[in-house]
Amino acid sequence: MGSTILLTGAAGYIGSHTAVALAQAGYDLAIVDNCSNSSPIAVERCRELTGADIPFYQADVADKAALMEIFHQVKPAAVMHFSGYKAVGESVAQPLKYYRNNLDTTLSLLECMVQEGVGAFIFSSSATVYGANATVPYRESDPVGGCTNPYGWTKLMIEQIAQDTAAANPNMSVVLLRYFNPVGAHESGRIGENPAGIPNNLMPYITQVAVGKLDHLNIFGNDYDTPDGTGVRDYIHVVDLAQGHVAALKYAIEHTGAEVFNLGTGRGVSVLELVNAFQTVNGVSVPYEFAPRRAGDLASVWADPAKAREILGWTAEKTVEDMVADSWRWQKNNPDGYV
Ligand code: UFG
Repeated sequence: MGSTILLTGAAGYIGSHTAVALAQAGYDLAIVDNCSNSSPIAVERCRELTGADIPFYQADVADKAALMEIFHQVKPAAVMHFSGYKAVGESVAQPLKYYRNNLDTTLSLLECMVQEGVGAFIFSSSATVYGANATVPYRESDPVGGCTNPYGWTKLMIEQIAQDTAAANPNMSVVLLRYFNPVGAHESGRIGENPAGIPNNLMPYITQVAVGKLDHLNIFGNDYDTPDGTGVRDYIHVVDLAQGHVAALKYAIEHTGAEVFNLGTGRGVSVLELVNAFQTVNGVSVPYEFAPRRAGDLASVWADPAKAREILGWTAEKTVEDMVADSWRWQKNNPDGYV
């Protein structure tokens, strides 16, 4: 086994930021991504930002033969699994596409890892796995399940699959990272979130309104039981999230078994607060209208990040002001994404 960390899906938003953080922390990396919803230009920019030589394999992680070939070349010491479909609404309309892709990629990856004796597996899970009975702030010990869409179920199923694999393979170390709401971009403005089509998530929608690509923001609901009536979420800067992966990797390499960590700030921010911060910090206008609630949305979601602080020694450091400034810099400098 070598010392390289293999990252799946790292041409995407969170993976690319983590690639930069890992390279800057001194790790050797390799990336595999089929670029079905991402761009190889993101990998070039990771190389540009870090000066690192990052081998890139454009391949489908579900294709086990292709993946095994990559394992033989890279000889990874650990795997971080970012690849996967992630659009909640699309997963309701096309559940089989989501189950097939998100589960197949994970099964191929874990099979290769077990076969090749690769110990450490770090997975991009989501706060969406928490069940309706969980109460804020969400703790890792809170109940999971009762997901409202197939995307969420794939995250929970993969958590289960990875935990069972760790239980059956005593040398393995599985770290499941439950992300809250990642926003922001690298402060260089060279990498960032690049959604295809009309964004589903709040921050890319705001930036596209601000840059003039979309007419106005619809705020889904202003009658929630929250301080200003709009939904409250735990927005976390993607660079903080990336540092959380560096800490998780160190932990995974030193331990065996399976652990779950929330990666959030522990602070709830409303839609209106985020929109107002964006306008104030960036001096741009984001016209909005109130619209009906979106199906499946909760009033308030935020993390208890204590476990990651205590065990991984990691805490989110960036402010809401950093998040809106960095998101805007990325959008302004790259109005058409990676071109
Ligand atoms: N919102 C709007 N207008 C928009 C988009 C979003 O008002 O155009 C609001 C939502 O109603 C919500 C907040 O902004 O109150 C955040 O919405 P996002 O779509 O950005 O994020 P969600 O919290 O709905 O979704 C996130 C992740 C999913 C994950 C889900 C549950 O993107 O991957 O959390 O944990 F499944």
